[in-house]
Amino acid sequence: MNLDSYLESRTDLINARLSELVPLQPKAPQALLFESARYILLNPGKRLRPILTLAAVESLGGTIESALTPACAIEILHTYSLVHDDLPCMDDDDLRRGMPTLHTVYPEGHAVLTGDFLLTYAFEVLSQSPFLDSEQRLQLVQVLSQRAGAHGMIGGQVVDIASEGKPISWELLHFIHHHKTAALVSACLEFAGIIAKASESDRELLKSIGLQIGLSFQLIDDVLDVTGTQELIGKPLFSDKDNEKATSVSVLGLEKAQTYAQELYVSALSDCKKLSFSSPLLEGLLSKLVHRSK
Ligand code: IPE
Ligand code: IPE
Ligand code: MG
Ligand code: MG
Ligand code: MG
Repeated sequence: MNLDSYLESRTDLINARLSELVPLQPKAPQALLFESARYILLNPGKRLRPILTLAAVESLGGTIESALTPACAIEILHTYSLVHDDLPCMDDDDLRRGMPTLHTVYPEGHAVLTGDFLLTYAFEVLSQSPFLDSEQRLQLVQVLSQRAGAHGMIGGQVVDIASEGKPISWELLHFIHHHKTAALVSACLEFAGIIAKASESDRELLKSIGLQIGLSFQLIDDVLDVTGTQELIGKPLFSDKDNEKATSVSVLGLEKAQTYAQELYVSALSDCKKLSFSSPLLEGLLSKLVHRSK
């Protein structure tokens, strides 16, 4: 199967599983919660994170069935982070995944609560993942809570908003990118190691590949904020500029940001070659991520 058909078929599987995991509940008093969660969750995201998990598990010889639910738990948690990231008290954006942001469609308090639901629900989903033993489920919960928490995504988000309008060092920008984005991307590949019971050395390599590709992904996200098109990225252009964000473009400049993203990709690729299994799917995916326009 070539990479494009692989991406299409796995995206379909992920979308179907996400839809099953969050069904409409029209008769429930909190029916609006399931409606708003589906609105943002089933919008056309790139599904990068769950696809990374699936591709790594499949390369390791594990089954799609064992990986699909945990991969969707990461996508659910990622989606919560987008809902909160777009709020007026954060990046104040009105477009996400090509659609009006959740707080512009539903009352703001309801949008906050929808994010809270998605965050909490991600862990419920993980704890009930089929085809895994309880030790594996516990390890997944530990990895996701650490990568999403104070020493991961939230730590990065806090420094991100505190740095608005300030000149910051490259080291601090690196901290922001590492925490707000790379930690969760790394979790996707750490998940694969747990699900497919990889060796210790493969797990270490997968984590390092995840961090490098996550950093590269955020560098490119910053670049696309100024060079992309709204139609392709599905988000407002110049949001970072308007918020006076510290980004790779403001700290390094466009050219250096692009060069650094490419260097991280090359280094991640060389780590792929050190894995004990061949990973053409993963390598193809990494290339797509660094050369993306959306
Ligand atoms: C956006 O993530 C947030 C960042 C960490 C840059 P994605 O670019 O993966 O967003 P979706 O899931 O495709 O909407
Ligand atoms: C977001 O970074 C990282 C998250 C944890 C959501 P950005 O604020 O740059 O993401 P976008 O550009 O809004 O998707
Ligand atoms: Mg942000
Ligand atoms: Mg944002
Ligand atoms: Mg951005």
